[in-house]
Amino acid sequence: MTLGERLALPLLRRLDPETAHGLALRALGAGLGQRAPAGRYPRLATSLAGMALANPLGLAAGFDKNATVVGPLVDAGFGFVEVGAATPLPQPGSPRPRLFRLAEDRAAINRFGFNNDGAEAIAARLARRPKRGIVGLNLGANKTSTDRAADFARVLASAGPHVDFATVNVSSPNTERLRDLQGAAALAALLDGVMAANARLARPVPVFLKIAPDLADPDLADLAAVALASGISGIIATNTTLARDGLASRDAGETGGLSGRPLFHRSTAVLARLSELTEGRLPLVGVGGIDSAEAAYAKLRAGASALQLYTALVYGGLALVPEILAGLDALLARDGFATVSDAVGSGRDDWLAAYAALASSAG
Ligand code: FNR
Repeated sequence: MTLGERLALPLLRRLDPETAHGLALRALGAGLGQRAPAGRYPRLATSLAGMALANPLGLAAGFDKNATVVGPLVDAGFGFVEVGAATPLPQPGSPRPRLFRLAEDRAAINRFGFNNDGAEAIAARLARRPKRGIVGLNLGANKTSTDRAADFARVLASAGPHVDFATVNVSSPNTERLRDLQGAAALAALLDGVMAANARLARPVPVFLKIAPDLADPDLADLAAVALASGISGIIATNTTLARDGLASRDAGETGGLSGRPLFHRSTAVLARLSELTEGRLPLVGVGGIDSAEAAYAKLRAGASALQLYTALVYGGLALVPEILAGLDALLARDGFATVSDAVGSGRDDWLAAYAALASSAG
């Protein structure tokens, strides 16, 4: 941890979490972030859906919802950065408080509900962003929209020219009925619309689908089949969970999506199952509870080609990024993997067993 973070994190933790996050973003924007020396780990260089990444560790959506600190986040050492979610029209999201720290559990619960400045403002910011790093946008739908499926295509049409990839997010638990769009028929139609909008861009971008960790196995299998048929470039697994198993923190009963350490097991098991269902034909991005090099390595071995994290930054700060990269490089070297892609899926069977246990306990 940097000295600045060592001083600032305990103070930020005493504030309301949303206020603290706002201050952290302002500090980053003011140049108080860190620069991780780029390209220090040739072993970590990899590619994802045709994008060349300096390393496989990305920033998950929701941290920089309005794309205000893209440059500093790229400079923090991430291999790729996902901003948003952006919806066509600006919207305020749910009433506060809507973000809760579960410190004992190293977790968070949020019910933001896609608060954001809207696609136009976010696209304008992305157009002005520094031209370095791999940057994508998480696409969302307005709460009051009469055609939510069309919203995803609209956001892609306006911001697509200024990003390297886009993610269809039908897995947020905080917009009522949004997750219904993960059903096979609705999803196929939605992805058709998004891919048509993508084809109309001067430079089409890789499109990812981000899924919930709470799908029943037959629904996950249907979703994988739709994803394979749709022409998208990959799947991001997973978003936050509605499950609340074994939490110790006071705010464990808050409504919203749970992220952080308690999500690791479930999201990694689902990732492995998805890797099996897609038979390696779609690259997968593993996200959910990564807070160490060991956790990052386990996700790769479960079947992820690349990784994302968010909640661990609340507890470890951006210094966690170079720490995980150094540790991941050492773990790959220890086990004789020359590249990240050599390790992908090498431990999948253990996670498939974990998935089977989860699925049977869910009945
Ligand atoms: C999120 N996440 C999220 N995901 C998404 O697709 N669009 C979004 O707008 C948001 N917003 C958001 C806000 C907050 C406060 C949190 C904590 C999370 C989900 C996030 O990208 C990620 O999938 C999960 O948090 C799991 O990863 P971690 O946090 O356990 O590393």
